[in-house]
Amino acid sequence: MTVDPALFDRFAIDYDHFVSLQPGQNSAWVRGLGVTGERAIDVGCGSGHAAERLADDFGYVLGVDLSEPMIEIARASRARPNVEYRVADAFALEDDGFDLVYSHTMMHHLPDYRAGLEQLKSLVRPGGTVAVVDNVCDLYPTPPRRAYTVGAVLGFPREVRRIGWREAWFELRFWFSKPWLEHLLSDRYLSRAQFRLVYDSVFPGAQYDDLGFALAMRWTDERGG
Ligand SMILES: C[S@@+](CC[C@H](N)C(=O)[O-])C[C@H]1O[C@@H](n2cnc3c(N)ncnc32)[C@H](O)[C@@H]1O
Repeated sequence: MTVDPALFDRFAIDYDHFVSLQPGQNSAWVRGLGVTGERAIDVGCGSGHAAERLADDFGYVLGVDLSEPMIEIARASRARPNVEYRVADAFALEDDGFDLVYSHTMMHHLPDYRAGLEQLKSLVRPGGTVAVVDNVCDLYPTPPRRAYTVGAVLGFPREVRRIGWREAWFELRFWFSKPWLEHLLSDRYLSRAQFRLVYDSVFPGAQYDDLGFALAMRWTDERGG
């Protein structure tokens, strides 16, 4: 739904720094599912934060992202012997052998949401798990600028206590930075009801967790394995 597929190229380094300040934010839920196995894929892996963590639970992890700068950071900063990072479009992947297919906050960037879910489903092996986290908003598809900036200002004292002045100041400036705000203002999120409708249609029997900013869906392929 986002207009520019190369959006993340423009602020890859700052985005990576920003994500580093929320350790585990994009991997805690999926790791909490306790899924382990031979092969996992993180589709839209960004700079590799979750892929690196999943390397503790799987024999091999493939991190895939459309953004070359993101993948370059992942390779430089989060290399592990059992992790491969690849620049690729989610829709270009052809493999049906993953024990875990994971995606965190990528889905809303795809031009066709439902086709994207079908594509994730095509990657899982019989008996494997698909786990997807994506942003939702019940008030409006695209939250206004103030939803982010007011929150960042109000949260600043808490962030100073959590990560110190220097990093909290970086974080605040990032929330106000032009490319990040332009990106947020081009996002379109599903409501919770829309989310469940489309995920239920592709993943019958799916289970959901509400993470506040996002819904998380898990589904196990019942073909056996
Ligand atoms: C909000 S970031 C999330 C990155 C990472 N999953 C995280 O949680 O930090 C969305 C990512 O999806 C990637 N992306 C967008 N469209 C994609 C596509 N069609 N195929 C693969 N990756 C895509 C972007 O390049 C970006 O790195």
